Amino acid sequence: MKGIILAGGFGTRLYPLTKSVSKQLLPINDKPMIFYPLSILMLSGIKDILIITSPRDKPSFMSLLGNGENLGISIEYIEQNEPKGIADAFLLGSNFIKDDSVTLILGDNLFFGYDLVSTFKNAIKDLKKATIFAYPVNNPSDYGVVELDKNNEVINIEEKPENPSSRYAVTGIYMYDNSILDIAKSIKPSERGELEITDVNKVYLDKNHLDAVIFGRGVAWLDTGSHQSLLEAGNFVNIIEKRQGFKIACLEEIAWRNKWISSEKLLEIAEPLKKSGYGNYLIDIVNQNND
Ligand code: G1P
Repeated sequence: MKGIILAGGFGTRLYPLTKSVSKQLLPINDKPMIFYPLSILMLSGIKDILIITSPRDKPSFMSLLGNGENLGISIEYIEQNEPKGIADAFLLGSNFIKDDSVTLILGDNLFFGYDLVSTFKNAIKDLKKATIFAYPVNNPSDYGVVELDKNNEVINIEEKPENPSSRYAVTGIYMYDNSILDIAKSIKPSERGELEITDVNKVYLDKNHLDAVIFGRGVAWLDTGSHQSLLEAGNFVNIIEKRQGFKIACLEEIAWRNKWISSEKLLEIAEPLKKSGYGNYLIDIVNQNND
């Protein structure tokens, strides 16, 4: 299973914040936004990752994350010249995906919750053709919306419907088998000029190949598309981290707990990060483990 993070776009809804910096590099509490979706891929056990960015922002992502070696993973980068829709990720990423299956996560989506990791791991294990993840929201018209029958089988899926058939939004994480490469090629741009992920999912649905996993109440799915939701996401992470003393989406910790990097490596990474407290956190988790 390969992983793609879509972190392109101009972030115009957050101007002027994003006039000179990628939206996916903005802070969510104590970390850049992209740490959160990357943490989800890493927690799910995915080590081969492609980050899609705008040409302007590629050097910044590279200086933040490098080739992934420090995290015991492999990170590649590819430029998307202009935002052409989520499904464009599979056209851009076809040489990276090769003959594998793929999980795509949007670079501005934040997931947190009990049992989330086993949900994603099981979904990877049980992946047949395509799996989407749905979450009840108060404003379904802002998202892709999925209609389910009483056995949670997908009946219908629509992009930003005026009159939504359910409260279940399609979240920004998607898993596909290798047929995604052909399906993405067959999609035509929508009225807003984008290759819609919902159109991809409709192709799978028409063949009866679309599964949905429903997140329950114990899960938080936050997006960061407006100033308000950006601030709320930061506050959310801040409250949990302060209360528990654990960090959310601490990539170095995840790599270490997955045994992808050694304690020595973690301590080496921690050293220059000590001033912000992030480094001390890393040092503490190694020491606590040695107690
Ligand atoms: C996109 C998708 C939509 C999905 C959402 C999740 O919306 O088109 O189906 O529900 O991401 O964040 P957009 O960000 O293009 O408005």
